[in-house]
Amino acid sequence: MQRRPRRNRKSESVRNLVEETQVSVKDLIFPLFLVDGHKKQIEVASMPGIFRFSTDLMLKEIEECMKLGIYSFDVFPAYPESLKDAVASESYNPETFYLKALREIKKQFPEVCLMSDVAMDPYSSDGHDGLVKNGKILNDETLEILGKMSLAQADAGVDILGPSDMMDGRVGFIRELLDENDFVDTSIMSYTAKYASAFYGPFRDALDSAPKFGDKKTYQMNPANAKEALIEADLDVEEGADFLMVKPALSYLDIIRQLSDNYPLPIAAYNVSGEYSMVKAAADKGWLDYERSMNEILLSIKRAGAKIILTYFAKDFAKNHH
Ligand code: PBG
Repeated sequence: MQRRPRRNRKSESVRNLVEETQVSVKDLIFPLFLVDGHKKQIEVASMPGIFRFSTDLMLKEIEECMKLGIYSFDVFPAYPESLKDAVASESYNPETFYLKALREIKKQFPEVCLMSDVAMDPYSSDGHDGLVKNGKILNDETLEILGKMSLAQADAGVDILGPSDMMDGRVGFIRELLDENDFVDTSIMSYTAKYASAFYGPFRDALDSAPKFGDKKTYQMNPANAKEALIEADLDVEEGADFLMVKPALSYLDIIRQLSDNYPLPIAAYNVSGEYSMVKAAADKGWLDYERSMNEILLSIKRAGAKIILTYFAKDFAKNHH
């Protein structure tokens, strides 16, 4: 035999030399769930090890994560039903606990990269990402609301806005508004290819944000389609996005690869709630090795072409790679 590929696997040191992909704690964004109140830390039933924190305890959590090398966070709010309405008014109320928490985080830890979520669902009595009228999700009317939400979050000091709503034209709409209001340094990480996925289930438990009727298939993408992701990416680039995101990650590694091959912008992937929960559940039963499964998953997302990974594994990964 002339060729023996096993020679490059013969020892740890040789394997290290030929290793193509590394995941670093610096690549990770840790999603955090926020609730109103004090001294609250409530575990999400379908996401063991992941909590909903009140602001005071979230600040402690962030401090602990920073000691492990995690400097980027994406904060999602869980609102009580009583504060939800049809037009998501609470999302741009300057006194709302979400905006106050974002402001507080940036005040205490100016060095962190803080990301926020732009979509109506946590504040909407319909549980949809856009404005609902007669059972339909209205695109252009939703943009106005997303715009107000974006300005309020930028004003709170957020570094990166994450429009996760999948309305057409929202990146350009938000970019223009930000620039007109002197928020030229506020970045946009567009949820470029966000699929109508079953893997968001545990997240909707965490935020009590499941749609009250129907599904999200008129705005989120069909899992069967790849080409549409290129259209979405073209538009996001044109409209001024700073990052392109693919979501979920694991069932969409081909989409990550395609965007990474075709666009010079940094590609992010959202390793979503259901992808975390299925590993956790299997590991809790003793059916999978948690550490090894986590490492392999993050590696595969990076290998597919994502530079940035939003993942609930962030803290566990950082504990072992610090
Ligand atoms: C909502 C939003 C969702 C997620 C992030 N932003 C859920 C949805 O679209 O229903 C899912 C994240 C996850 O599952 O971890 N705009």
